[in-house]
Amino acid sequence: MGGAAGPPMLIRRAAAGDQRAITAIIRAAGINPTGLHWQRFIVAEAGGRVVGTGQIKPHGDGSRELASLAVIPARQGEGIARVIICSLQRSASPPLYLTCAERLEGLYGRFGFQSLARAEMPPDLRRLHRIINGVLRVLRYPERLLVMRWDGG
Ligand SMILES: CC(C)(COP(=O)(O)OP(=O)(O)OC[C@H]1O[C@@H](n2cnc3c(N)ncnc32)[C@H](O)[C@@H]1OP(=O)(O)O)[C@@H](O)C(=O)NCCC(=O)NCCS
Repeated sequence: MGGAAGPPMLIRRAAAGDQRAITAIIRAAGINPTGLHWQRFIVAEAGGRVVGTGQIKPHGDGSRELASLAVIPARQGEGIARVIICSLQRSASPPLYLTCAERLEGLYGRFGFQSLARAEMPPDLRRLHRIINGVLRVLRYPERLLVMRWDGG
């Protein structure tokens, strides 16, 4: 595995020493900064540096979410997210859920995820979906949050 534009890439389970890098990458990416326990993460490493992250996040209702997918800007477009998504899909049995901005529906669609109607969402993500989209509506933000599911295959 390797990106054309940089040093070779390794995908591995995160270790305690990766926590700082995981938190920094997620914060810089501007995505949900909560629930970033390194024990659930896999990371992409290149040149001794963490360049990409992803995790499977369990919810209280029993559902599991593919979350915290981020790649540092300098390494985007090299297929790193693809490797992280496929690796997380291999490590988890379906169904797997995720939340994303509408503009990323096409990305996750490539990996078999499909958008859900409210009634199809597990309770925890349905609640999150309602709250976040309520806030976005009040702020007149043009985009909405989607909940998607992968059923395997
Ligand atoms: C979204 C993100 C993780 C993609 O990482 P990446 O390593 O550049 O993605 P890849 O190069 O692995 O692309 C994988 C596939 O998704 C497609 N893709 C990538 N970004 C996309 C986008 N914004 N919209 C639609 N498709 C996209 C690629 O074309 C590629 O498809 P292909 O393999 O069929 O050609 C990265 O841009 C990022 O970190 N963004 C900021 C954080 C974020 O928004 N995370 C998602 C939270 S839900």
